Amino acid sequence: PFERPDAKARPAESPRLSLTERPRRNRKSDWARRLVRENTLTVDDLIWPIFLTEGTDCVPIAAMPGVERLTVDRAVAEAERAAALDIPVIALFPYTDPALRDPTGSEALNAQNLVARACRAIKAAVPAIGILTDVALDPYTSHGHDGVLEDGVILNDETVALLVRQALTHAAAGADIVAPSDMMDGRVGAIREALDAAGFADVQIMAYTAKYASAFYGPFREAIGTAVTLQGDKRTYQMDYANSDEAVREAELDLAEGADMIMVKPGLPYLDVVARLKATFGRPTFAYQVSGEYSMIMAAAQNGWIDGDKAMIESLYAFKRAGADGILTYFAPRVAEKLKKG
Ligand code: PBG
Repeated sequence: PFERPDAKARPAESPRLSLTERPRRNRKSDWARRLVRENTLTVDDLIWPIFLTEGTDCVPIAAMPGVERLTVDRAVAEAERAAALDIPVIALFPYTDPALRDPTGSEALNAQNLVARACRAIKAAVPAIGILTDVALDPYTSHGHDGVLEDGVILNDETVALLVRQALTHAAAGADIVAPSDMMDGRVGAIREALDAAGFADVQIMAYTAKYASAFYGPFREAIGTAVTLQGDKRTYQMDYANSDEAVREAELDLAEGADMIMVKPGLPYLDVVARLKATFGRPTFAYQVSGEYSMIMAAAQNGWIDGDKAMIESLYAFKRAGADGILTYFAPRVAEKLKKG
């Protein structure tokens, strides 16, 4: 006959609290925990950022173990793999040949540049995956800033004029979502208007709405080669990490200007901002788990200090709990594979 292990007689002197509520009841077993689970991470939550390089050889990124700059051919193969895993979107970031970088980032406007070629190649080979492109000048400028630099000042409106043209080249190359990451004022509205006028009304805009001036972008800057080019810092356009009301203001503006989706970046250190924007606006809200966050988890895991897979999954659940609709993460294919295996 069945005997409940929990009904085993305890000695009379053992302590007994008189509790109506015992929250542990809902955690007593795997099935009970699954039954009351509030948030679920699925492959539909993932956007995979990849790095691109010219030439025939992929280039490992020392500060991001497991991540490489991919040739266009390999990027297509990885897009195929991502689509097979049902990852909805892949995001493209170019490493631009230093010889092509100049003060105004003119290579950004080249309709045959690396991003445009990768976009076309992926669209042709893997129509099922969405492509997101980053709109900003930093991979192309000789000074590493996201905009036009004059006498130490980043010119806002002059930069926006170039970003609009950059976004149009991305759309023409097949980008499904353009994501302005530059933090210039008024760029979302200007890009929306230009896309519509050019017949790209279906191209979505994911605005880097609350993008903070952050130390966590370090490994990314190695990946796209701006660690060496960047003069000074980006604090006159990226946000001050002391602020969160300002993020609300930025979101109001981006949404009013036509952003389809808003984003907070970095991710884990800014979950309060994710939660606040989602609660305030109720609009599609994304978080970018940036390079430094990836590298911290990888470095600790490689040292045997934490379980990398567990930390990866836990960190992504944190975004879901905060209300994010999706996460840009370098872990995307690894997570997708893990989720597939169950
Ligand atoms: C640049 C851009 C950056 C990232 C995405 N787009 C870095 C920066 O602003 O210097 C960071 C992504 C990451 O760290 O993973 N427009």
